[in-house]
Amino acid sequence: MKLEIHDLRASIGGKEILKGIDLTLETGEINALMGPNGSGKSTLANVLLGHPNYEVTGGRVLLDGIDILEKTTDERARMGLFLAFQYPVEIGGITIGKFLKRATEEMYKSNGRMDISSYLSDLRESMNFLEIDQQFINRYLNEGFSGGEKKRMEILQMLMLKPAIAIMDETDSGLDIDALKVVARGVNKLKGDNFSALVITHYQRILKFLEPNRVHILYQGKVVMSGGPELVDELEARGYDWIKEDTHEYVANN
Ligand SMILES: Nc1ncnc2c1ncn2[C@@H]1O[C@H](COP(=O)(O)OP(=O)(O)OP(=O)(O)O)[C@@H](O)[C@H]1O
Ligand SMILES: [Mg+2]
Repeated sequence: MKLEIHDLRASIGGKEILKGIDLTLETGEINALMGPNGSGKSTLANVLLGHPNYEVTGGRVLLDGIDILEKTTDERARMGLFLAFQYPVEIGGITIGKFLKRATEEMYKSNGRMDISSYLSDLRESMNFLEIDQQFINRYLNEGFSGGEKKRMEILQMLMLKPAIAIMDETDSGLDIDALKVVARGVNKLKGDNFSALVITHYQRILKFLEPNRVHILYQGKVVMSGGPELVDELEARGYDWIKEDTHEYVANN
């Protein structure tokens, strides 16, 4: 599935955060989205999933040519869009097992019947794969989970739902080196013609494992630069200052 973002603009509380985003994520590609704090990365992720707090003031977002901006978050998820949150929320009163079952059922509603025994074996296999203790099935979603456990749980959801397009908002932040490898393993397992991902990150290390096809840099609400993986090395070495200098005029004039 191909994701095309054309001149996307969005505001919160009357303040424009996304100032005309252009970005294409080709089918089957892993792309990285980097950019300084406050540049609008999480805002973009939330707007793509239809978070109600943001007002979209212009532009188009196409999934295989279909404009999704008028669709509800549920509809977007059923079309195959998935968001792993930068700050996963705690939900009291619902266990991981129940939550995942419901979410998977919702997905299958539009994609045929869910077979409960294959669901359960899939769940067990995915938990083993991500080295998550089976006991977690009975714990309440994210309640009392460590930062790293929450992130791992986001990847478990992703493996179960098998989205066509995953937006991963700093899933690598706060992970120890083993957890980072586990998360990367989860993404690499889904890699293929039926899976694309936009990986939002500040760090080179996760990208070493994921080998993104392209890297985009968001700066003050615009994608100001796109390139190959070498762009990550350049950022790591030089920070964002050179981008500010290179693009200052560009941003001011657009
Ligand atoms: N509810 C809000 N009210 C006012 N401003 C907001 C609100 N939500 C977000 N913003 C502003 O939007 C800008 C972009 O925030 P966003 O969270 O998208 O940045 P980010 O690129 O994800 O940063 P980080 O790398 O720190 O996660 C920030 O300046 C932030 O303060
Ligand atoms: Mg963010």
